[in-house]
Amino acid sequence: MANSQILVTGGAGFIGSYVVEELLKYHPRKIIIVDNLVRGRLENLGSFIDNSAIEFIEGDIRDVSLMDKCISNVDYVFHMAALRINACAANPGDGFDVMLKATFDLATLCVKYKVKKVIYSSSASVYGLAQHFPTPETDNPYDNQTFYGGAKLWGEQLFRSFKFMYGLDYVALRYFNVYGPRMDTDGKYTEVMIRWLDCIQHGLNPLIYGDGETTMDFVYIKDVARANVAALMANVSDQVFNIGTCRETSLKQLLQIMLAVNKSHLIPEFKESDTVNPVSRRCAENGKAKHLLGFEPKSTLKEGLYELSQWYFKKQKATLYSI
Ligand SMILES: NC(=O)c1ccc[n+]([C@@H]2O[C@H](COP(=O)([O-])OP(=O)(O)OC[C@H]3O[C@@H](n4cnc5c(N)ncnc54)[C@H](O)[C@@H]3O)[C@@H](O)[C@H]2O)c1
Repeated sequence: MANSQILVTGGAGFIGSYVVEELLKYHPRKIIIVDNLVRGRLENLGSFIDNSAIEFIEGDIRDVSLMDKCISNVDYVFHMAALRINACAANPGDGFDVMLKATFDLATLCVKYKVKKVIYSSSASVYGLAQHFPTPETDNPYDNQTFYGGAKLWGEQLFRSFKFMYGLDYVALRYFNVYGPRMDTDGKYTEVMIRWLDCIQHGLNPLIYGDGETTMDFVYIKDVARANVAALMANVSDQVFNIGTCRETSLKQLLQIMLAVNKSHLIPEFKESDTVNPVSRRCAENGKAKHLLGFEPKSTLKEGLYELSQWYFKKQKATLYSI
């Protein structure tokens, strides 16, 4: 990787900014970050913005001439810019332009400029409610009900077809429930963690809507960043990998661990939920990533939730003092 040029779309976002930090450990010549800051934040770039290898461009991946310039000299592309699941549902037209059209244009430019490998950020959303737990990569995606999941699956298939038509090498990573410092505080499942941290901070009993039995596979952000770099370095192409821990954690268990790491004795309260979550379970079979990428998640949920809590409380304190 040393001496290479790398493009990271969405590099001012949650996962993108950690991927850039991880990449810098390998001393690439240049990392170009393109992000329109619709969700990303400049503060996410804080630890590396002054590094001479970094070029940050506040721009849109839908701008084909900008992307042409950015891709013309790069060796590798991490394509992470995307709209969130709720944003796609609220405005599928934007979802189409960002997730499908811009991804198609990016793949076309990667072929034009003979990019050596693309690492594409996909999602466990492609499965909807999976058929098996733990879920192998071979489970079918027919239960997905979301525009976002459909778009991610299409992205995987786009790169697959470009590999066969034009020889463009790629790896797609299906992240499960990524969490950690810098995460979105109002995301689909991250919002609940933040709501509970607020309760812990203010001494209020945390609420669980429903029975708390919905499960997820929480994977720590720094592990996800390592998985991205492993996908670049491994001699692997035309493959999709689950990036999760193979540990299924219910919301009830998540809250218990969160209370324990914060030495809190608050009592969870249950409230009836007026919504039905169509995806009641998530758990990644992660043997393929271990075997072919040499990637294994390192952080335990306890460690990760401790880091998340410290970050959030510090951030709240800083906001309080800035008012
Ligand atoms: N966080 C998760 O748990 C999770 C799970 C599965 C998949 N993913 C995928 O991983 C990738 C990174 O996710 P994240 O959690 O860091 O989200 P994020 O929203 O923090 O990062 C995405 C970044 O893309 C940027 N962006 C959006 N539209 C853009 C556009 N038109 N032009 C330029 N930049 C644009 C945003 O400003 C943001 O910084 C995304 O592709 C996401 O779909 C994330």
